[in-house]
Amino acid sequence: MHKKAKSLGANEILELVFIYLAEVSSLKKPDDILNVLASMGRVLTSADRCSIWLVSDDKKTIWTKVAQGIDKLDMPIDSGIVGAAMSKGQRELIEDAYLDPRFNKDVDKLTGYTTKSMIVIPMYNYDDTIIGAFQVINHKGEIEKFDTQDMERLTLASTYAAETLISTNLAIEMQETQKEVVFTMGSIAESRSKETGNHVKRVAEYSKLLALAYGLDKEEAELLKQASPMHDIGKVAIPDSILNKPGRFDENERFIMDTHADIGYQMIKNSKRPLLKAAAIVAREHHEKWDGTGYPRRLSGEDIHIYGRITAIADVFDTLGSDRVYKKAWDDEKIFQLLIDEREKHFDPKLIDLFFENLDSIKEVRETFKDVYEEKIDLKRDKQITILGAYGTKAKGHATTAFSLIVKM
Ligand SMILES: [Fe+2]
Ligand SMILES: [Fe+2]
Repeated sequence: MHKKAKSLGANEILELVFIYLAEVSSLKKPDDILNVLASMGRVLTSADRCSIWLVSDDKKTIWTKVAQGIDKLDMPIDSGIVGAAMSKGQRELIEDAYLDPRFNKDVDKLTGYTTKSMIVIPMYNYDDTIIGAFQVINHKGEIEKFDTQDMERLTLASTYAAETLISTNLAIEMQETQKEVVFTMGSIAESRSKETGNHVKRVAEYSKLLALAYGLDKEEAELLKQASPMHDIGKVAIPDSILNKPGRFDENERFIMDTHADIGYQMIKNSKRPLLKAAAIVAREHHEKWDGTGYPRRLSGEDIHIYGRITAIADVFDTLGSDRVYKKAWDDEKIFQLLIDEREKHFDPKLIDLFFENLDSIKEVRETFKDVYEEKIDLKRDKQITILGAYGTKAKGHATTAFSLIVKM
C-alpha cells in the first residue's frame, strides 16, 4: 500500500482509494478510522507525514489527534499555517514553509524535523464551524512540492475524517445528554421528598458495585448505575402533604405513597431506549421483597428482576444511613443488623452476602459521595440557609449537582 501516488494513473488512484475505504468500513473505533484516513492522505499525496489536528474543547489550542511519525503536539489555536488555514477556513498549498512568515518554526525545533512543503485542509462540523485540519508535510521523490491534484486528493481523505469526527461527537453528545437528563430527573424526584443531596449518586454507585459482584457484565452494571437514580421518579406524582409528612402514614396515605413504584413505571415504560427501559424496571420493582410481601406486584425470589433486587438493597442501605424528615440516621451496627435480619425476607440472600463481602468498597463509595452541608447566612432576610449539597463530585462523571434547601428562621 505504500506505492507513490504521484506516479500512479487515475485508475490506480481510484484503486487505492477503494482499498483504503474498504479498510475504513471494516473498522469501528474512530481512532482507528482516523489513522487509516491519515495513511490514505499520506499515500495519495506522496507525503512524508500526515497529521490530523483538532480544536480543543475550550477553543484555545489545537492538538494532533493523529500524528504520524511524531509525538502528540499541542499549540495555540492561531499558531502557524494550520492555525491560519483554520481561522480563514481556507486550504493552503505551501512550497517552502520557511519562506512563509506564518510558519511556526517551534514545531520543527520540538520534533527535530525539517518542514518544507505542506498542504493544510480545514475540517468542518455539521454547523460549518471548524473542528480541525488535515495536514501533510514534505512531498517525497524528485519533485519536492505538492500540486493542486494532491490538494484535491487530500480533501477527499479530510472529508471522510471530518464525517468520522462529526458522527463520533454526535454519538457521545447524545449519550451524555441522555445520562444527564435521566440523572437530573431522578434528583428532582428525590429532592421533592427532601432526600439528601447525594442519595441518588450513592445508590447508583452501590448498584453498580453489587451488579459487578453478582456477575453482570461491565456494560450492564454501568446501565444499572445510570438507571438506578430513577427509582423514585414516580414520587413526582405524590402530593407534598404526604411526601413530606413528618409522622406515620395512615392507611390511605400509605396506599397513595406506594403507588409511586407503578407510576414511575407507567411514566417511562414506553421508551425504546435501553437506559430508560432499565429505569422503568427499577422504578417498578425496587419495593418488591424476596419473600413476596413487597409491592406493587408481590413478586418473590428471582421473579423480581435483578435490577430491582439490587436497587432495593442500595436504596434501603443509603436511606437508613441518612437523616430524614421523620427520623435521624441509624448507626452502622443497627443498619447491618437489619440487612442480616432481612436476608431472605426483604432481600435476595445472595446479594446480602455480596454486600458484606464488598463492605470496604461500599464504605469507600459512602465516603466519596457523602453529603456536604454548607451554611450560608442571608443577611437581608435574616434567615439562615443550609444547603444540602453534592459538591466535588463533578470529576466522578456527574455534571449535575443535586441539592435541596432547608430554610431555618
Ligand atoms: Fe421508592
Ligand atoms: Fe431512594
